[in-house]
Amino acid sequence: MDQENTQAAVKPEKKPIIFSGIQPSGTLTLGNYIGALRNWVTLQDQYDCIYCIVDEHAITVRQNPAELRRRCLELAAIYIASGIDPARSLIYCQSHVSAHAELAWILNCFTYMGELSRMTQFKAKSAAHADNINAGLFTYPVLMAADILLYQTNLVPVGVDQKQHLEICRDIAMRFNGVYGDVFTIPEGYIPKTGAKIMSLQEPQKKMSKSDPEETYIAILDEPDAIRRKIKRAVTDSDGEIRFDPENKPGVSNLLSIISALGGGEINAVCAELQGQGYGKLKERATDCVIAALDPLHAEFKRLIADKGYLQGVIDENAEKAAYLANKTLRKVQKKVGFAARGERK
Ligand code: TRP
Repeated sequence: MDQENTQAAVKPEKKPIIFSGIQPSGTLTLGNYIGALRNWVTLQDQYDCIYCIVDEHAITVRQNPAELRRRCLELAAIYIASGIDPARSLIYCQSHVSAHAELAWILNCFTYMGELSRMTQFKAKSAAHADNINAGLFTYPVLMAADILLYQTNLVPVGVDQKQHLEICRDIAMRFNGVYGDVFTIPEGYIPKTGAKIMSLQEPQKKMSKSDPEETYIAILDEPDAIRRKIKRAVTDSDGEIRFDPENKPGVSNLLSIISALGGGEINAVCAELQGQGYGKLKERATDCVIAALDPLHAEFKRLIADKGYLQGVIDENAEKAAYLANKTLRKVQKKVGFAARGERK
């Protein structure tokens, strides 16, 4: 092997890129932790991961400014406390990287009113906020497409509620590439192999959601007392048998999913072990598992949130790295559509 080949052999291979984001609007739930954050942590080993705090998406509905600002830092702390390593993955605020808004504008000009009108989330949100059906709410998926496409993302871990938005992102990217050549990587959805869907504690046929009343969800930052109280009051059924059957026994099955997702054993093993011991024992077990999983996260969160300087440093530094990557794609796009060259271009 000659010198050149040897060097090529030791060059680290480029890993596929993962992009995802969470809005800093409202409380994260146990469902977000089990369904998203925890998986994001494991993805760091195999992929180059970018985890954005999507504050620009958040203002499509009115936010209290002081609260929004606080929640952005809190979300950064939650990401890190969950195990996302800011030295390996990018954690930053969307609004700190202006390329997101700039690319969104350009992509707006490659997106049809008709396709945006079909988005079920737009229909739902405009029904829920009838007094504020703004254009941002309408073009929300275009900004999301910009988020994803700026980083030449390969995989996007999202829940089923975001699948339609990922589809339109792919459509916009293919449309653009069709006109200008291969500018964007076409992203795929990433559905994690493991990752139970966590249901509401009060209406276990429905997904656990932060927009429902307090008692229906466990917040990631809930204290042990609140966790104990909420699980104690969780809806079960009256046949008394501990069995996994989401159709007929959604409440009991949800508790079993939570236990199993949080390392409390295989569902069948848990059923066998707790057989005949009643729902009280089942709930105790679920409570123990949730508290054990969230305890270290809480401790780490408290430590981080007390150190605002550190958090600020992390998001500043990562926004800079993100901007470097994002601007590479943005410059290419600007050139393709025919914007005038910049004198100071590198
Ligand atoms: N729309 C997503 C949600 O509400 C958040 C989001 C914004 C996102 N941009 C993204 C998710 C890009 C994945 C990729 O859940």
